[in-house]
Formats: sequence, structure tokens, C-alpha cells
Amino acid sequence: MKIAVVGTGYVGLVTGACFAEMGNQVICVDLDAEKVERMRQGECPIYEASLPEMLPRNIEEGRLRFTTSLAEAAETADIFFIAVGTNPAADGSADLSAVMAVARQLGETIQRPAIIVDKSTVPVGTGEKVEATVLDALKKRGENIEFEVISNPEFLKEGAAVADFMKPDRVIIGTDSEWARDVMGQLYAPFTAKNDRVLYMGRRDAEMTKYAANAMLATKISFMNEMASLAEKLDVDIEQVRHGIGSDPRIGYSFIYPGCGYGGSCFPKDVKALIQTAREQDFDPAILDAVERRNAAQKQRLSEKISARFGNDLTGHHFALWGLAFKPGTDDMREAPSKEVLAHIIQSGGTVTAHDPEAMDMARTELPAEWFESGRLKLAEHQYDVLDGADALILVTEWKPYRQPDFDTLAERLKQKIIFDGRNQYDPALMKKLGFEYQGIGRKN
Ligand SMILES: NC(=O)c1ccc[n+]([C@@H]2O[C@H](COP(=O)([O-])OP(=O)(O)OC[C@H]3O[C@@H](n4cnc5c(N)ncnc54)[C@H](O)[C@@H]3O)[C@@H](O)[C@H]2O)c1
Repeated sequence: MKIAVVGTGYVGLVTGACFAEMGNQVICVDLDAEKVERMRQGECPIYEASLPEMLPRNIEEGRLRFTTSLAEAAETADIFFIAVGTNPAADGSADLSAVMAVARQLGETIQRPAIIVDKSTVPVGTGEKVEATVLDALKKRGENIEFEVISNPEFLKEGAAVADFMKPDRVIIGTDSEWARDVMGQLYAPFTAKNDRVLYMGRRDAEMTKYAANAMLATKISFMNEMASLAEKLDVDIEQVRHGIGSDPRIGYSFIYPGCGYGGSCFPKDVKALIQTAREQDFDPAILDAVERRNAAQKQRLSEKISARFGNDLTGHHFALWGLAFKPGTDDMREAPSKEVLAHIIQSGGTVTAHDPEAMDMARTELPAEWFESGRLKLAEHQYDVLDGADALILVTEWKPYRQPDFDTLAERLKQKIIFDGRNQYDPALMKKLGFEYQGIGRKN
């Protein structure tokens, strides 16, 4: 099938590469000319497992192309995926300017019957707006080309994006059009065990499903974080409670890990956007408001613990930090809890040496340049090189190499044997035995 994917971020690039991998002809469109040039050379602009091998292979075999011109893509494509960003506007609602810009351009450039697929996460009713915009642009051209706008939200997880796309739990197709259902069913058949996992529904239902899914996951995390804070006050180990409740199949183990707050490009912005949607309907989103409040508080937990231990003035204190990405398996630092911890330490007069297996290039562009220029933040190439002279190690992101570290090396190289474990990776009893002062989240120390 002939596909155009507009927007080559974490979602668009994975979508384009995976469809090409299954034999489709894919052209990816992005505004960022420099990025397009790099991708044309087969270079993968983001860290995501398997993508670096898939890009050159599919380019060489002639199934995957990159361009900055939607008009060029419209010369060959029949299916257009919109996968541009929908970052929050000032009021928290999803900023639809990029989506609507693509819709207008599509109306200006499509050449033959087209299925326009909204893969970006967009509020309920956006499909209607996209449709009206495409129609308006077509009318201005004096063209009457058949098209359908459908919703096909994406559920991939950064860090396992290719695997998720290749073997999705479900594919949601939001449209009432028989034509679009047939085409999308055919397109996704190789990914979904011949459509066993394709769910067809209305367009608005599909749009809402994406927000409800992310809001539910954010709620589970925040609920557990709330339990963790209460557990600390009651001298209870939240990890025991987690096992105790996760073993109930009605609850399950997923997304009940206490930690230092959720980040990333999706949960924070999608919860905010859903809150805004509710307010626009004069509806009080009591649970969502609480989830937001809890997460904002949780992202301060490590900073609070550090200040409780070392004082509010951290002048003269140096810290080692493991994990900058918002979660393991990605270089994405959008809304990462590490940013809050770094800001707290540096603004309180302390210094940090940090390491991340994949996000250090991202850190150099995402974090304030003055932190680096002033020497308050340094990055170390090896995970153990952060330790020298540090008053404590702070674990923020649970990358695999941090899960089972060499504690002898930690003991030798840290100035003080103190660990703040923002992801409850280490066993408090073992830490005690090894002589570390240990603070987790919601656990007895
Ligand atoms: N990142 C995720 O894990 C994830 C998962 C599911 C859904 N989503 C949703 O998918 C959408 C995209 O997310 P992302 O993380 O891939 O975004 P991103 O910010 O990583 O990438 C967006 C890309 O779109 C390009 N772009 C913007 N305007 C454009 C235009 N007019 N024409 C062509 N290209 C344009 C940008 O240059 C950028 O490369 C968002 O709505 C997001 O909520 C993201």
C-alpha cells in the first residue's frame, strides 16, 4: 500500500518504518530539513531499539523515503497519517496548530481519493475539524476529491516502540466508513494476527479512548505513589503492599510501581488536555485533578528527601545521578523527573555528575546551558565515573545497568555511602548489610 506519514517523531518514524518493514511503500514528511537529510542517509534521529537497523534496510530496499514536501508525498500516497506533536497550549489544552496545518496542506495537495488518518493524540471532535479544513482547502482549489478522516490513536510505548507497533495489544480504528475500515483492516492485518486485535468504533469514541487509556495509567501510578507516601508515615514497606495487591488479578502488577513521578511526552500533557476538555464541558474532573496534583508532588519527593538529609542549602555538596531519560529504553527527556531533581540541587547550591546510557546528547540540548557552563552539572561517559567525591547516589531512571550495580565499587568511590533510590530498585536489607544509608520511595529505611 502507498502511505505517507507526516511528522517523524517517536510515533511517526516508528509508524513509517514498521509499515515499510511489512512491504508497504512509505514516504515520511517532516518540516525539519536537517532531520530529513539525516534520515535520508539512514541515520536514526532518536534512540529506539531496532529503528537504527530498520531505517537503512528499508531505504536501501526502496520502501522508505523522506521528504520535507507534502506535495511530493501526495504524488504517490493514498493513505496519509498525521503524526505531528500536540503539545499543551498555555491553558493545558492540546495545541492543534500542527495538526490543522497538515490538514490544510492535505486539502491543498491530495491528488486522488485519500484516507487521512489521525494518529496524533487529539481531543474529541478534532476529526470533524480536520475534515472541515480539508474540505475548505479542496473547495478553494475547485476540486471534489473523495476523502475520509479517521482516528487511529497510537498506543506504543517509548523504549519498546517498534515491538509494540509490530505486535499491538489492539489497533483502534475510529470511523463509520466501510471503505476506510476495509483499507485500514488490510493495512494492519500483518500486525494483528489477521485482525483479531482490530477494534472498530466511532471516530469520537477512538479519540476519547486514547485519552482515557493514558489517564487510567497515570491514575494507577499516582494512586500507588499516594499509597507510598502514606506508607512512609506508617512505617510500612510499600513494596510488600505492591506484591500484596498486584497478585489480585482484578488489580494486576502493571503500573503500580511507586517512584518519583511520571514524565514523558504523553501522560502529563494528555491528563492536562483531558482536564481542559472536561472544563470546556462544565464538568469537574475530580480524579484527573488529583492525579495531576499527586504527580507534581511526587516529582518533588527525591528533592525533599535530599534536603531533609543534607539541608536546604546544598552548597558544598556534590551528588551522583543515574538516569536522565524519563524512563528506560529512550533518550526522551520531556517532563523527566530527573530535571526536577537537577534543578533542585543546582538551585540549592549543590553540584551533580550525571550519567544516562542514551540520553546524554539529549541532556546537552534539553538542560540549561548555564548548568554546564558553570560546572554545576557534568556528564560522565561511564556510569561509575559519576561516583567520585559524591555525597550520595541518586537513582532516577531504572535502566538495566543500574539495577544490579557493583556495590563494592559504589562503596569505594562514593564519598558517603548514601543512596536515594527513586525507583525502589535495591533491597533495603541488602543495603543495610552492605553499610549503605538507603532511602527508597515508601519503604522503611
Ligand atoms: N511519544 C509517544 O510515546 C507517543 C505515543 C502515543 C501517541 N503519541 C502522540 O503522537 C503525536 C506525536 O508524538 P511524538 O512524540 O512522535 O512527537 P515529536 O514531537 O517527537 O515529533 C513530531 C514531529 O512532527 C514534526 N512536525 C511538526 N509539524 C509538522 C508539519 N506541519 N509537517 C510535518 N512535520 C511536522 C516535527 O518536526 C517532529 O519531527 C502526539 O500527538 C503524541 O501525543 C506519542
